[in-house]
Amino acid sequence: MDPITNPYAPGAGSQPPELAGRAEVLERTRVTLARVLQGRPAKSFMLVGLRGVGKTVLLNRIFEIAEEAGYRAALVETPEGKSLPEVLLPSLRRILLQLDTKEKVNEVVKRSLMILKGFAKTLKITVGDFDIGLGIEPSEGVADSGDLEADLPDLFEAVGRAARARGTAVALIIDEVQYVAEKEFSALIMAVHRLSQRQLPVVVIGAGLPQLVGLAGKSKSYAERLFDYPQIGALATEDAVAALVEPARREGVAYDTDAVAEAVRMTNGYPYFLQEWGYHSWNAASGSPISKDDVKIATQSALSSLDESFFRVRFDRLTPREKAYLFAMAGLGPGPHRSGDIAARLEVAVESIAPVRSSLIKKGMVFSPAHGDTAFTVPMFDEYLSRQQRLS
Ligand SMILES: Nc1ncnc2c1ncn2[C@@H]1O[C@H](COP(=O)(O)OP(=O)(O)O)[C@@H](O)[C@H]1O
Ligand SMILES: [Mg+2]
Repeated sequence: MDPITNPYAPGAGSQPPELAGRAEVLERTRVTLARVLQGRPAKSFMLVGLRGVGKTVLLNRIFEIAEEAGYRAALVETPEGKSLPEVLLPSLRRILLQLDTKEKVNEVVKRSLMILKGFAKTLKITVGDFDIGLGIEPSEGVADSGDLEADLPDLFEAVGRAARARGTAVALIIDEVQYVAEKEFSALIMAVHRLSQRQLPVVVIGAGLPQLVGLAGKSKSYAERLFDYPQIGALATEDAVAALVEPARREGVAYDTDAVAEAVRMTNGYPYFLQEWGYHSWNAASGSPISKDDVKIATQSALSSLDESFFRVRFDRLTPREKAYLFAMAGLGPGPHRSGDIAARLEVAVESIAPVRSSLIKKGMVFSPAHGDTAFTVPMFDEYLSRQQRLS
């Protein structure tokens, strides 16, 4: 069928034509945002799940919902190797400047800008040329101690006071939280704790791979009190069906029942894969309805396109030892696997590969679902590795 009207959207962060099966998270978002806006206590949350389950597109949607609810919202991503303050500052600056542009200068907002400036100065953060506003002097004695766990709470409190002075609220939405350094994560927890103590209208919503839950370290008990960690996973069968069928239906195209069943089976209901199978099935079909044979043809092209992009992206950046570790895991099946079994397969001592395992966790390739267990952060990654091994 005409590839121009193909409705599916495979790709990291690509908004799907049908955001299937996520009503519960979106409802939780609405309730949380409305409560915070009214100055009522509400638990922030971090979406936790494997790659390709739809965390980023949910955060995009949450950003829209926040703005619709009257929030000043920021959506940032923490890339590997960049500090959380560096990532947050430009957005906080933008939000404070927006709060400042109303008719008469607001002293509270102005003071918050001074605090932001002092914070940036202390951390020696230069964001381009970090011009916070003409005539704003950095404040002294607040958010400028150089200790992030003390300064970030001060800064968030200042932002909260500025928002409250303007009768609005702020949503800080952070993607790829697993890359936040432990110390910074702990500062974030402290900052959210301060907000909740002072009942200030700032909400933090995050998303990341399962390893983010372990980042809390010594602030673990705070983290558990302040954050919920809703699991985002594969779609239930009826939602997976809707993710495939609805976008086509809107274009006047149907699926044979066994065609949908085949696609759901091949994808295990994982959102990224559903988009890929939908996309390739559409292109393979000569007309409506899309048949099981079309889906089978699509399987070939869907897999090769996944192998060239989704699966490969991060794999290419790994060291040979890290790759060997993953191949050993894949040889054992989908997982999770015991460290001892992986070591045995590599014919080495467990202790000798512990550093490789840690660096794979840091790089977001694997996580530890339970002590001594290791699992892939990418669904069906073992099958990808097996395909690669057969090729080499
Ligand atoms: N609820 C959903 N229903 C259908 N497709 C979805 C859904 N959520 C995400 N997708 C699709 O899955 C792919 C991956 O989404 P993304 O948000 O990048 O995942 P993650 O951030 O968890 O890695 C995208 O192509 C997106 O269109
Ligand atoms: Mg993402």
